[in-house]
Amino acid sequence: MPTPVYPPPIPQRSNMLQALCKMPRSFLSLLFTRSYEMKMGEISLPKTKVFFVNQPELVRQVMVSEQKKFPKHHLMHEALLPLLGESIFTTNGEQWRQQRTILSKAFASAKMTDIYPMMNAAVDDLLVRLEQERPKKAVLDIDPWMTFVTADIIFRTIMSTRLKTEQADKILAAFSRFQSIAPLSALLEVYGLGAINKYTPSERSRKRAARIIRQEIKEIIHPRFLCKATESAAQTDILTHLLNVCDDETGQSLGIDELVDHVCMLFLAGHETSASALTWSLYLLALDQDVQRTVHNEIDQVLGDKPLEYKHLRNLPILESVFQEALRLYPPVAFLPRECTAHTKMRNKDLNKNDVVMISPWLIHRHQKQWQDPHEFKPQRFHDPACQATIRHNYLPFGMGPRICLGAGFARQEALIVLAKFLKIYHIQMPSDFHPDIVGRLTVRSANGLQLVLEKRG
Ligand code: HEM
Repeated sequence: MPTPVYPPPIPQRSNMLQALCKMPRSFLSLLFTRSYEMKMGEISLPKTKVFFVNQPELVRQVMVSEQKKFPKHHLMHEALLPLLGESIFTTNGEQWRQQRTILSKAFASAKMTDIYPMMNAAVDDLLVRLEQERPKKAVLDIDPWMTFVTADIIFRTIMSTRLKTEQADKILAAFSRFQSIAPLSALLEVYGLGAINKYTPSERSRKRAARIIRQEIKEIIHPRFLCKATESAAQTDILTHLLNVCDDETGQSLGIDELVDHVCMLFLAGHETSASALTWSLYLLALDQDVQRTVHNEIDQVLGDKPLEYKHLRNLPILESVFQEALRLYPPVAFLPRECTAHTKMRNKDLNKNDVVMISPWLIHRHQKQWQDPHEFKPQRFHDPACQATIRHNYLPFGMGPRICLGAGFARQEALIVLAKFLKIYHIQMPSDFHPDIVGRLTVRSANGLQLVLEKRG
């Protein structure tokens, strides 16, 4: 089995000019050989320093024990503001705490069993459309299909509406534009060139893309906001819970702009990450035909000729380990930037106020000193008792501490449904001349999609 693709690390750290040339395409192209071995590294920029923290105890210090000292970086808040507004993904302090309480309640009330039929129906629709399309093409790019189904699942579970193709064309194209410009904007900001960035055509195009997405989402939720008093009690989507939220102290409910912020954030955090994880899971299974065979056997044994049901999801450990290993090799959120708010010493390095502390699931998951065969696809490591300590201390695809992903359970359920139903029907192979072109932007994706040959199983 060949080693799954990853961008070959460059021998030496890039200087500012090299970084400005490479990074607009991908954050990952800046990583150098030592990045995968060091406990902690440092890059000096004109206005700040960036510290890469890989050592497990230090990662816990930043993400858990001293997390208040290391809030989300303000540049990330500013970069995502046009799309996500003042939403939980980038806010800090008391504002974040209140939002986390509201959204946790909404997620807890919308039970996974209630959401299951909505996810299931979206996947059934995907499979019908895929089967219409498949005979027309010998090779299919599966990546847009995964993006569509995860966006459709968010639409159905959050707003009880199906994603129409024309809506998808508009929203997903706008999001793709927004995401492709993100690394350049971030780099200019980090280099202290934010003032120039504001006036670049690409920045204006990024803001336009964000407006298009927000407008589309607003058009869907506004009518329900206006008649929330008469909302059907039978509605079980997440928006119903958000519409019914009211502040314990003031009794006030959320305004329309706050709702748009929350829904846009859930749309972004919820579909893009899951689409990335699903595409990489399928890539790895196409690459490793032996593992694919064991997954097919597991699905056949658990389902027989019956359709997938909620209760089956806990009986697919091999499939689940493939998903976990895909998240290790290709963590959709590869970098978690934090801001140092007060002087701190770490490994004899002085971190000062405003310095960037970068926790990178990408580097931590592939660290040479922590993992055996870090770049190899070995889903069985998730069932190997000897690997559990490594996993416990060096595996954080959903983040860590109080800001851990709110949708981790949602994402796991969604992934198992999509993969189990898809693999029940299809055997997948990759054309021998196809190699994904991996890029790290807001999420880790393949710039040339994922070409697959889909054969129906007997
Ligand atoms: C495989 C899929 C997913 C991955 C890998 C993922 C990963 C992450 C990560 C790493 C964070 C923390 C970021 C940080 O600490 O800087 C995060 C936060 C978050 N995620 Fe996810 N996510 C996924 C799916 C979802 C889904 C499906 C939803 C909702 C439907 C969601 C909602 C959120 C929210 C609301 C936060 C912010 C939490 C906070 O700051 O308090 N995620 N996610």
